[in-house]
Formats: sequence, C-alpha cells, structure tokens
Amino acid sequence: MGWKKILLAVTLIAGVTAQNEFRVCVPPSFASQCQGLQSLGSPIICDTVESRLDCIMRLNRGDSDFGVFSEEEMVLMGHNQPNDNRVVASIKDILSNGSYAFEAVAVVPASHTGGLEGLRGMKYCHPGLDETEARWSPRVLKTLERAAARTDRCPDMDTNGKTAEEIEVQTLNSFFGAACRPGPWSANSSVDADLKSRFPNLCSLCGSNGDCSKYSIDMGPNIANVDNNNRHIQALECMRSNENNTFAYVAWQHVRTYFNVRNPRIRGSYALLCEDGSLRPLTVEATNSNISPCSFVRQPWSAVVATTTRASDVSAALKTWWPTGTNPGGVSWQSSLYNNLIGGALSIISFEDSLPGPGNYSQSRNFTAIDASSSCIPARRWCTISNEEHNKCSWVRASAYTLGIEPTISCQMRNNIFECLSDIKDNAADFIATPSNYGYLSRQHYKLSAVKLVQNLRGNPNSFSRVAAFVKESATQGNITRFENLRGKKACFPEFGGISYVAFLRTAHERSIISSSDCDYARAVGEFFDGACAPGALAASHEIVQSSYNATNLCSLCKPAVNVNDSNFTCAFDYTNMYYGNNGSINCLADPTTDVAFVELDGIQAHLDAAKLQASDLRALCRDNTLAPSAGVQVPDSCLLASVVDSEVLARRNDPLANSLNVLLDNLDSYFGYNAANAKQLINLEIYSPFDKVSDLLFRNTAIGLTEPSDNAINAEARNYNELFRHLESCTGSTPPLPGLATKNFFSLVTLLGTALITRFVLY
Ligand SMILES: *[C@@H]1O[C@H](CO)[C@@H](O)[C@H](O)[C@H]1NC(C)=O
Ligand SMILES: *[C@@H]1O[C@H](CO)[C@@H](O)[C@H](O)[C@H]1NC(C)=O
Ligand SMILES: *[C@@H]1O[C@H](CO)[C@@H](O)[C@H](O)[C@H]1NC(C)=O
Ligand SMILES: *[C@@H]1O[C@H](CO)[C@@H](O)[C@H](O)[C@H]1NC(C)=O
Ligand SMILES: *[C@@H]1O[C@H](CO)[C@@H](O)[C@H](O)[C@H]1NC(C)=O
Ligand SMILES: *[C@@H]1O[C@H](CO)[C@@H](O)[C@H](O)[C@H]1NC(C)=O
Repeated sequence: MGWKKILLAVTLIAGVTAQNEFRVCVPPSFASQCQGLQSLGSPIICDTVESRLDCIMRLNRGDSDFGVFSEEEMVLMGHNQPNDNRVVASIKDILSNGSYAFEAVAVVPASHTGGLEGLRGMKYCHPGLDETEARWSPRVLKTLERAAARTDRCPDMDTNGKTAEEIEVQTLNSFFGAACRPGPWSANSSVDADLKSRFPNLCSLCGSNGDCSKYSIDMGPNIANVDNNNRHIQALECMRSNENNTFAYVAWQHVRTYFNVRNPRIRGSYALLCEDGSLRPLTVEATNSNISPCSFVRQPWSAVVATTTRASDVSAALKTWWPTGTNPGGVSWQSSLYNNLIGGALSIISFEDSLPGPGNYSQSRNFTAIDASSSCIPARRWCTISNEEHNKCSWVRASAYTLGIEPTISCQMRNNIFECLSDIKDNAADFIATPSNYGYLSRQHYKLSAVKLVQNLRGNPNSFSRVAAFVKESATQGNITRFENLRGKKACFPEFGGISYVAFLRTAHERSIISSSDCDYARAVGEFFDGACAPGALAASHEIVQSSYNATNLCSLCKPAVNVNDSNFTCAFDYTNMYYGNNGSINCLADPTTDVAFVELDGIQAHLDAAKLQASDLRALCRDNTLAPSAGVQVPDSCLLASVVDSEVLARRNDPLANSLNVLLDNLDSYFGYNAANAKQLINLEIYSPFDKVSDLLFRNTAIGLTEPSDNAINAEARNYNELFRHLESCTGSTPPLPGLATKNFFSLVTLLGTALITRFVLY
C-alpha cells in the first residue's frame, strides 16, 4: 500500500469518526464522569463549560454540537438569537407532559366586566414572589400586574431616590383594592420591610397572623390529592373566601386541581380572564385539558439544542440512544448520559422533528424587545472596557431582562477604565466595578462613590489588595531600616494615585516624614524622593489636587518599553511604560539605582521571576517602621501598608437613582451570583465566573458577592478601605489652599466679580 492510500484510509476513518462523534457541552459537575463514557463506547466528546450561557457561545461558534437548556434559557435564546441553532427535542415532565411547562392564568368571578381595566379596585390573590415550585421568573410573577396596572409606566411619579420596587408597589397599591402578594418585594431586605409597612393593603388578604411572607388563611379540611400548602391553591382559596370582587393569578395546572378536585361545585361562578379582556368559562371540558383556553404566560419546555449544521445528525442519534424518550436504565452510557444531561425517571424527551429555531420554539413567550420596552427607571448604564467584557455584559443584560429584573441594564464600551470613570462623572454612564487600585482617583478626581464593595473568598489572601513596601536586602544593613531613611531615595510606584501610592502616603503621614497638613499629594511625594516612577503623574486623568507643582520628578525613573521608540521620557500609565503596574514596579526595583517599591502582593512571585529577582533580594519595610523579621515576600499582616477589599462598584456621588442601582446589584447577585448557581437557577449565567473562558470580566473572579460600603462590621478589609479614604480626605478638607491654587482662585474670584459688575452694568 502506498503512502497516499494509507493517508486516504486514515482520512476516511477520521472522517467517519468525526461524523459519528458528538461534542456536547456539560457542566463541570459531570465532566469527569462524562470523560469515562468514552471508554464505554459512547460517541460523546465532553466539552466542559463554566455555565450553560457559555454553552450558547460554544454552539454559536460550532465548538460544541449540542447542549441542554432550561425553560428561561430557551426564552432568552428565542429573543436574543431567534434563528441561531435548532431545537432537537423538548424535555418534559412525565407527569404533566402538555404543550407547555406551565401557563399563568387569571381567574375572575364569572360576572366580571371591563376586561383588564375592570380589575381596578378589585382584590388580588397572588401565589407569592418567592414561589419557586413552578419556576416562575419575576417577569412571569408580574405579567398580569404589568398588563393591568401598567407598572411599567409612571408618568407623574417622582422617581428620584426610589427603587424600581417602590414605584411598582406604589402603582399596585393605587390600582388594587386589597391583596395578598406574599414573599419579598425587594432583594434588599430593608427596602422590603419599608414597603411592607407602608403598603399593608397589599398584604391584607394573607391572613390574620401573617407577616406577608406567606398565606395564613383558613384552608378548611384536607382533601385527597390537593396540597393545602401549595401557594396557588392558597391563592385560589383566598379568591373564593373573599367572594365576588376578588381574583387570582395562578398556574393553570393548579386551577385544574382546584376546580376538578377541590371545589367542583363553584366552577360556574368563575371564569378565566384573557389578555384581550374577554372571558372563558371554566367548563369541565376546559379544566380537563392540559392547555388553558387562554393565559398570560405560556412557558416553553427546556430543550436539547444543536447547531444548525449538526441538528439532524443529533436528532437521529438521540433517537437511537433513547428511542422511547425516557431513560433506558441499566448500566449503559446511554442511561448515564440521560441521567446527567436530561434528568431522572420523571423526564421524557419529545422530538421536535421540524427542528425549529429558538425563536419559533419560544414564540409563546414573545414580550417586547428590550430596546422598545418601557420602564419607570431608565436603564442603568454599565461601562465596559473590552469586547469580551462587553459581550458578557450584553448577556447579563439580556438574561436580566428575560427574567424581568428591573431596572434594565445597558452596556457601553470605552477604551479604558479612565474613560469609564469620566463618563460616569459626566452622566454618560452609571456604574462600573473597578479594582480598588482606582479607589482614590475615582473619589478624588471623578467624584464617584461606592455603591457596593466586592466580597472576596475568605482564606485566600490573594483575593484582597495587600500593599507592602520592599527595599533591597543589601541596603538594609545599616542604610535603610526606617521610613525616614527613604528621604532623597528613588521610589517605584505601580501608578500615580493608585492604592500603593496612597497606602504609602498614609504611612508617611503616620511616620511624620510627610507633614500631615501637606495635602498636595503629588508635591509631598515628589519632593520627599529624589526621583520616582509613578505612572500617570502628569496625566489630567490622574489629577488628584489642583497644584502648581511640576510632577516631572515623579516620572524621572520611568522607562519606555523596548518596543516603543519614542524619546526616553515616559510617564504613561499603560504597559508601554516598563515600570507601570505591580510587575513594572518590581521590574523598577530590579534597577540598581532604585531603592524602594510599593506594590500589591498578589502575583508577586511571577513578577520577581520576570524581573530575575530572588525573593531573598528584598525585605519589607513595615507600617510600624520596623524591617520585616526576614528577607522575602512572605509579609506578615502587621507589616502591610494596607490590606483592603480588592474591588468595588462605583457610581456618581449623589446619583438620584443610586438606590435603584443598589437593589439592581442585589438582584444580579441573587439570580446570577455565587449562591444562585444551583439546580433551581432559572438562567445559568455566573456573573463572578469566567465568561466564554475569559477571566475577570465585569467582576474579578475572586469575587463571591457584594456588600454595602457602609457595612463596617462585615470584614476588616472593608473597614480598612473606608478608613484609608477617610484619612486621605480629612487632609484635603482641612488645609489652607496651596499658593498655586490660591492664585487661581484669586483670579477666578476677580473674574467672577468682574462678570457680576458687568452684568449689573448691563442690567441697570
Ligand atoms: C356576588 O354576586 C352574586 C351574583 O352576581 C350576587 O347574587 C351576590 O349577592 C354577590 N355577593 C356579594 C357578597 O357581593
Ligand atoms: C419560524 O419558522 C418559519 C417557518 O416555519 C420561518 O419562516 C421563520 O423565519 C421562523 N422564525 C423564527 C423567528 O425562527
Ligand atoms: C550604604 O551606605 C554606604 C555609606 O554610607 C555606601 O557606601 C553604600 O553604597 C550604601 N549601600 C547601599 C546599598 O545603598
Ligand atoms: C517640568 O519640569 C521639566 C524638567 O524639570 C521641564 O522639562 C518641563 O517643561 C516642566 N513642565 C512644566 C509644565 O513646567
Ligand atoms: C506586566 O504584565 C503585563 C500583562 O499583564 C505585560 O503586558 C507587561 O509586559 C508586563 N510588564 C513587565 C515589565 O513585565
Ligand atoms: C438596601 O438599600 C438601601 C437603599 O439603596 C441601602 O441604603 C441599604 O444599604 C441596602 N441594604 C442592604 C442590606 O442591602
């Protein structure tokens, strides 16, 4: 056999194998078991993904052939990319295998008139905002309210200072006569408690001893096959016991149970109210059908989705693996795959032979597109700084909108963090999560403040921002042992105004080597050292005080990276400056002419390696003015110049919509955060995890949650962070103006007076 033939044979085999193999995206929890299926002869290649949203990205690029998605993810895809990929099969619940996963309906008295507007002034029984049995998203829970009470419109309302929930509840309170709408009305418990106390009418039907967290009405005797603890059954009972003027918004499945089993004799007194305002009687035929005569929400089932090119192959394969649509059982890879991908004994697959796109598959959930939607609080604008981050933001936006989280989000991309800070300051964007490195500049130059601090994984020191001062071990033998000894020396800072820079300033104040009344923080440091590299010191974006000081001295050590063939001088605050950033500062300290570097400890070993330094070449100079007990970069906490949270969410100071942003972030945390990623998560997007395999987008991956900036009790790092800024700001507040500043102010005063005089002249 010649080489060509062998090659041909190999190609053919490879071709055949590829044809019969299927790349499926699987969650990390199934990854190792999934690899094992191959040895059992399965044609499955497991593509492990962080989340099912990542799986969408993999399908879109053809990196995976198919994956499994939840009901709400099908709705999301239906809206966001209606024609991409194909639905191969729906995954139903064997006990209720109707056309829809659920339907939400309004049950009204049969005598009801006036359509949706006729609900005004009526009593309203709701299963509860914390009702999770039926997998109802906030959008589903609130669909009828939005349609009837128009909670998305509030022409005459003052929205300043309010949260989206407050506006919503206010509107409902004026629309309905009374209600039971149990469960939390806001993801923020203090907002919830405030609303519950101000609008008790919306809880008045929940029962006498309730706190509006659930129904505590008399449910009467137990009836076989009816669960008296089911919130939908309770809402229907709330409707019945309050007589004519009351209606309920519940799942069709429970309406059937209620009228078929529990109270068949009263079915004639009630009807369904349809979206168009018409009524449908609750006849025996109607309640025997698993499809409602009309409904406000019809939820598509979760589904197996494949790429358009592989859809028919996948469909054919699934039919051979699982011919009955159920788990084949036994010890086989088919059964294992079914168990882990599709579900257990209660699931059944129903093949979609027309291979619809997600748009057609989910067309029963067609609500207004996000860009055309109305809401009382305008979209909060999230600033992003890369294409990858923008993509993640767009999916967070679409997912939050699909679930009905308010206010909506919009995403806008800028070139870097400073353009974002500047946009937020100028009301051209609203918020961004930034490393605490920018905390001081953001407050001082951009007048921003924290809406949330980011919570980090405890027990991992690298998830905090820990700043240390390092001098050369060789210099510690007599020459540099205290902060005083640094006067007239050469210093390396990662960035002007950054966290290491301000941590040094505070220590310098404490050690009285810089006068604590000297609040020109460029001059103070520039004159203390005989040269430094503090990237950004000359940039308008980094100005922290109006000053006549020429800060060139703070850039004298900086060096352009070799590939930049400009002049020798640079003060750039990006990697074109060889000494920019924490790695740059270590690089700077490797220069024989420099004496000290102020850096964050995260990743320092890699920076030392890159700079060809040994850890034993350095020794930390501690905040208490002693040398660390030994050389090296293992710095005891007591020696650090700062140990603070590593990032925060910033917004405009005094933004009148800051409260709504605060609660929006609580919602994002509760639906897409660390604790949300479980089997009940409606849309499996993980906001603190890598997205599409890229780390640190929107949030650093060390984040595990968000806390209030004011909540000092929560952790030492948050307290330290607040304390650091209090220290720096206390100086700025109490100093006499600098000469340069005074001159400027004097002139502007003269100009102002002059203008005033001229104005008077003209006026009189
Ligand atoms: C409810 O409506 C029926 C018929 O419309 C009427 O006979 C009855 O009196 C009403 N009950 C109450 C409490 O209003
Ligand atoms: C739905 O299916 C029809 C054909 O059956 C097709 O023409 C249309 O483009 C599809 N729409 C979407 C949104 O997928
Ligand atoms: C320490 O000081 C001595 C004399 O004061 C000087 O010769 C020596 O170069 C200094 N060493 C360093 C590392 O600065
Ligand atoms: C600041 O000082 C440097 C050198 O000392 C000089 O080249 C530069 O022109 C000065 N800049 C200003 C704005 O005075
Ligand atoms: C520091 O790290 C960045 C990437 O994180 C890299 O681009 C840069 O070249 C590094 N700088 C030095 C001096 O090694
Ligand atoms: C709740 O929201 C209010 C208003 O935005 C905020 O001040 C408060 O800190 C939040 N509390 C909690 C526990 O999140």
